[in-house]
Amino acid sequence: MAISEKVLGFMERASWIRKMFEEGIRLKQEFGEENVFDLSLGNPVAEPPEAVKAAIVKAAQDPAPGRHRYMPNAGFPDVRAAIANALSAECKVTLGPDDIVMICGAAGGLNIALKTLLDPGDEVIVFAPYFVEYFFYADNHGGQAVAVNTKPDFSIDFDALAAAITDRTKAVIINSPNNPTGVVYTRQAMEELAALLKEQSQKRGKPIYLIADDPYKKILFEGEPTPNPIEVYEDSLYITSHSKDLAVPGERIGYVAVHPDCADSANVVAGLIFCNRVLGFVNAPALFQRVVKEVQHVTVDVDAYRRRRDLLYSELTRIGYDVVKPGGAFYFFPKSPLEDEMQFIEILTAKKVLVVPGRGFGAPGYFRLSYCFPDAVIEGALPGLEAAFREARNG
Ligand SMILES: Cc1ncc(COP(=O)(O)O)c(C=O)c1O
Repeated sequence: MAISEKVLGFMERASWIRKMFEEGIRLKQEFGEENVFDLSLGNPVAEPPEAVKAAIVKAAQDPAPGRHRYMPNAGFPDVRAAIANALSAECKVTLGPDDIVMICGAAGGLNIALKTLLDPGDEVIVFAPYFVEYFFYADNHGGQAVAVNTKPDFSIDFDALAAAITDRTKAVIINSPNNPTGVVYTRQAMEELAALLKEQSQKRGKPIYLIADDPYKKILFEGEPTPNPIEVYEDSLYITSHSKDLAVPGERIGYVAVHPDCADSANVVAGLIFCNRVLGFVNAPALFQRVVKEVQHVTVDVDAYRRRRDLLYSELTRIGYDVVKPGGAFYFFPKSPLEDEMQFIEILTAKKVLVVPGRGFGAPGYFRLSYCFPDAVIEGALPGLEAAFREARNG
């Protein structure tokens, strides 16, 4: 083998979504696009809101010179100031432009955050089921992700979390609304998490940073949003992007906000800026920084996602699936009716419905289905979801 053995192993571990994607292409070629119901990907088909399109045109037509040059690695100061203003009210903490770093999507933000924080061998706690990229991102920067199981309703198991913290724990990553479960952490959970991390940081004489990876923040169906971590815990970094809330994942735009009083805050921010540079992002795209400055108040049509969530939840529970009702994002994470979800997915695939096995998210025995697709795809998948369930149950 010429390429890294480690990367080969990682590619195998991360291959579930790609395998389903390839299976989808094969099935579509064989049976026709309209007869295959691919619920495997989290790539929203929603178009960006009109206000975003107008802001793109305005930014592109701006005749001022120098609009496409290099800039400070943190991003344009006026854009960071606008974001800091918008965020200060939410966090109930005054943030300034120097607390914000513009990034190439949440993925870019997580990478610069982990590179900034981790020394070799440091541990980063993630909650299972998890977004599998966390493992690779931690490894990118010499660290190691440590998975902690959640409770059956996917809420945080604080005893399990406390037991997993060691002197090597540098950070905890949370994601709410969650991919793959759709659960939304409550204020009470965030306050309990903050208290536990504070106690553990004091006990160990060093900070445990809380990183919120929240690209689904605004795709919330009801109830109170999860508080911004900056509101409840000083040693916090809040990472978000506009991939989902403005439906522009291809444009790679988001930001990291750092609590102004977090441990070593000046170095944390300086490290993020340096890592933006040396990881090769250099800076977030100039045009899209201009765009998002204008549309911080805009969100995709959340009602459309809520409608699909409601339809799927009522159908999945009528059929008999054991599933937690998601409060946000655009995923369901039902229990497989067969213990080995791979066997069940084989039955589903034969009915031309594609989903992702739970083991891809550290939770065998489950599967993930996305509903960021047109109604026709979701409605078309329902007969297959029902027939596969009956077939699995009746042997
Ligand atoms: C939980 C989670 N974090 C991060 C990302 C990466 O988002 P972005 O496109 O902003 O890099 C995704 C994308 O699906 C995600 O689901």
